[in-house]
Amino acid sequence: MVFNKFGYPLAFAFIAVICSQAVAYDPLDPNGNITIKWDIMSWTPDGYVAVVTMNNFQMYRHIMSPGWTLGWVWAKKEVIWSMVGAQATEQGDCSKFRGNIPHSCKKNPTVVDLLPGVPYNQQIANCCKGGVLASWGQDPSASVSSFQVSVGRAGTTNKTVRLPLNFTLMGPGLGYTCSQAKKVPSTVFLTPDGRRKTQAMMTWNVTCTYSQILASRYPSCCVSMSSFYNSTITPCPKCSCGCQNKNTCVPSDAEIKTVVAMNTSKNHNTNAIKCTNHMCPIRVHWHVKLNYKEYWRVKMTVTNFNYQMNYTQWTLVAQHPNLNNITQVFSFDYKPLIPYQSTNDTGMFYGLKFYNDVLMEAGPDGNVQSELILKKDMNTFTFTQGWAFPRKIYFNGDECMMPPPDQYPYLPNSANSNLISSSTMASLLLLVLLVFW
Ligand SMILES: *[C@@H]1O[C@H](CO)[C@@H](O)[C@H](O)[C@H]1NC(C)=O
Ligand SMILES: *[C@@H]1O[C@H](CO)[C@@H](O)[C@H](O)[C@H]1NC(C)=O
Ligand SMILES: *[C@@H]1O[C@H](CO)[C@@H](O)[C@H](O)[C@H]1NC(C)=O
Ligand SMILES: *[C@@H]1O[C@H](CO)[C@@H](O)[C@H](O)[C@H]1NC(C)=O
Ligand SMILES: *[C@@H]1O[C@H](CO)[C@@H](O)[C@H](O)[C@H]1NC(C)=O
Ligand SMILES: *[C@@H]1O[C@H](CO)[C@@H](O)[C@H](O)[C@H]1NC(C)=O
Ligand SMILES: *[C@@H]1O[C@H](CO)[C@@H](O)[C@H](O)[C@H]1NC(C)=O
Ligand SMILES: *[C@@H]1O[C@H](CO)[C@@H](O)[C@H](O)[C@H]1NC(C)=O
Ligand SMILES: *[C@@H]1O[C@H](CO)[C@@H](O)[C@H](O)[C@H]1NC(C)=O
Repeated sequence: MVFNKFGYPLAFAFIAVICSQAVAYDPLDPNGNITIKWDIMSWTPDGYVAVVTMNNFQMYRHIMSPGWTLGWVWAKKEVIWSMVGAQATEQGDCSKFRGNIPHSCKKNPTVVDLLPGVPYNQQIANCCKGGVLASWGQDPSASVSSFQVSVGRAGTTNKTVRLPLNFTLMGPGLGYTCSQAKKVPSTVFLTPDGRRKTQAMMTWNVTCTYSQILASRYPSCCVSMSSFYNSTITPCPKCSCGCQNKNTCVPSDAEIKTVVAMNTSKNHNTNAIKCTNHMCPIRVHWHVKLNYKEYWRVKMTVTNFNYQMNYTQWTLVAQHPNLNNITQVFSFDYKPLIPYQSTNDTGMFYGLKFYNDVLMEAGPDGNVQSELILKKDMNTFTFTQGWAFPRKIYFNGDECMMPPPDQYPYLPNSANSNLISSSTMASLLLLVLLVFW
């Protein structure tokens, strides 16, 4: 399925543009979205003051630095008098104004968050994080962003206000499609002491959903595999992430210094990816490491091949039928994801704060690792037919390219009976593997 999908990326991108709402559906996070809520807090002589709140309800997809960019088109001749906690990137043509000059006169303003550490009088709650939004699964308290906007030349009652049109959200790249704004019941606020309720004059919501196919033509990560019972290492499929950068890739760690030094004065957009057969910025390696009587052990390694990217607050999602019985996870945080009550085969992993929550740029420190211990369910557990390998892997919310199933490391037929009970055998094979590794 995955292979078909990327086999015809153009056709799919086309269909995706036509009916993006229908395509923007992630079976592992069916309710994931980013909701943008406008609460009109007060009317002004020529418009209103609104607090705009962005909530990331996606379980494992966050918005990384350099952060979100929100745009819309005014329905009438509105202007932005002022903003707190964010700014419009362009003032536009305000030549009609004397005296008080608006913050932005653009018909289609583009707004970005302020950076941490701005003066207090430019801040409001949940602002000024450089546009970074954590995923809901990792840190709900950091998955919200707010700013205040004072709008002029707008309607001044709930009957005359016109909702802005055509919202766009970059997070920070492409991929999000936003619905039209829709009036919803006014938000009710509780005072801090909890003894009084106030309510917005008017509220509208916009829902934005993500579609990987809109974000990029090729996957951004791939999966490789190995096991203690077979010395073959199954690599990522060739050109998993497209080989269009093959001519500009960095051949080795030693050469990155000259490449980067040469190009630092130029624009920062050129990606420096290490040359590999897959050309992915990220590789996830799944190693079936040990076999115990009632348990088995997996080692996961995420490797960064991008010399110009530190992945902060990275997330990894894995789907495997035995994740319902995960007993221990070393070095990563783990949270089961249960999108449907009937299945419990998916979970998200993320780094421990201040330890490995940043996946460093390519090089000696450009990887994070974890080991998992899973309890066998004797009715389903097997090492044959690639059962021990994941069904799906996502990194930062994007699905990774898997090797074709016929290339998964096989269980040698003769060892079959020994394996199930003998962990000494496993250790022996591991020794053999280490030599190959
Ligand atoms: C957006 O996500 C929230 C939280 O998961 C969910 O309650 C809501 O129904 C979603 N909205 C849409 C339009 O999908
Ligand atoms: C509007 O968005 C807020 C979050 O920003 C959410 O809590 C609320 O449920 C949404 N309302 C509707 C009707 O979707
Ligand atoms: C405007 O507000 C009034 C009073 O709160 C309410 O009765 C009316 O339904 C609102 N009209 C619209 C269009 O929302
Ligand atoms: C909003 O987007 C639609 C469809 O892309 C377009 O037809 C329409 O002209 C846009 N409206 C404005 C005010 O830009
Ligand atoms: C660095 O700049 C040179 C000359 O402009 C260009 O050929 C090369 O592709 C750039 N390298 C990277 C990694 O962007
Ligand atoms: C990644 O982080 C390290 C250490 O904080 C820093 O030296 C390096 O410049 C960062 N790289 C990028 C591309 O931001
Ligand atoms: C799902 O599996 C996890 C172990 O990974 C377990 O802690 C959790 O209780 C399970 N939840 C359900 C609803 O079965
Ligand atoms: C874990 O495995 C045991 C033994 O196979 C089984 O009885 C139990 O239901 C499993 N737990 C979950 C959450 O599936
Ligand atoms: C190891 O797995 C490969 C497939 O990846 C298979 O071709 C090979 O025969 C296996 N080796 C043994 C000893 O079974």
